[in-house]
Amino acid sequence: MQFYKCFSGFLLRLLDASNFDFDQFNICYFNFLTKREKLNTALKKRNNYSESENYVQSVPDRYSINIDRYKEKINFLNFQDLEKWTKGNYANNIVDINRYFFLNLCIDYLIEEGISGNVAEIGVYKGNSAYLLSRFAREQGKTCFLFDTFEGFNQGDFSGHDVNASLNAFSDTNLEVVKELTGEKNTVFVKGYFPESLNQTGEIENLVLVHLDCDLEKPMKSALEYFYPRIKKGGFLIMHDHSSLYWPGAQTAIDEFFKNKGEFVIPIPDKSGTCVIRKV
Ligand SMILES: C[S@@+](CC[C@H](N)C(=O)[O-])C[C@H]1O[C@@H](n2cnc3c(N)ncnc32)[C@H](O)[C@@H]1O
Repeated sequence: MQFYKCFSGFLLRLLDASNFDFDQFNICYFNFLTKREKLNTALKKRNNYSESENYVQSVPDRYSINIDRYKEKINFLNFQDLEKWTKGNYANNIVDINRYFFLNLCIDYLIEEGISGNVAEIGVYKGNSAYLLSRFAREQGKTCFLFDTFEGFNQGDFSGHDVNASLNAFSDTNLEVVKELTGEKNTVFVKGYFPESLNQTGEIENLVLVHLDCDLEKPMKSALEYFYPRIKKGGFLIMHDHSSLYWPGAQTAIDEFFKNKGEFVIPIPDKSGTCVIRKV
């Protein structure tokens, strides 16, 4: 059905060759070839999720054709969480479903490999990614530390590399909104300027998953210095904005930090260019 829709759309568009949308056609053709469209329509029905079609193009096999095996084995991903993933930040996050699946996948590996410990995030904003981390910590009986000003950037952080930084970015949030989204159990909210805010927490250790998503060079550098040595073997260090070309400050901090560490970051093809390492 979807194919015929695409195909008739294609013919119609051919009639008006000057307006032909090759991108749209390629997306339809890709979906037809991979049978994703059909599969995901079924998935959405199964999960009562109907808000958007944008995520249907790239559901990994374990969460789609092998979902039953996945549920028997690990069963962390919950499609209902997509609402949390997009809440308050729909336009940005609905087109970043790869990142949602990637975060879930890292958690799956930790569960499957029995690597258990605390988690942390620097850069929480409305709590969309934090929700997954917080739920993981709860289910493991561990602690999730969430660091943010909850008021947006601090001007003192802006370096020459942070070319897209603006003062009012990410200021439209607050701690209560985040708490409501993530839940409070097993979660420590550290409100304040990072890294100074570390003095509110005491020593944080035994980390298995750290998510750095603070966009700017200065806090990214501080966060790497503090968290990298505190991640245990097998733990994930996930760094946002490495390859997107939008936050060169974050990329500079990451590249500088790993220059002499004998580590190479692995790039992830999500919307904003996440990269990752696993601690050896
Ligand atoms: C891109 S948003 C985080 C998005 C969130 N991780 C998600 O995926 O939904 C970046 C956040 O970093 C926070 N931030 C940046 N620099 C900071 C600093 N020095 N201290 C505390 N928070 C900071 C901002 O307040 C903002 O909320």
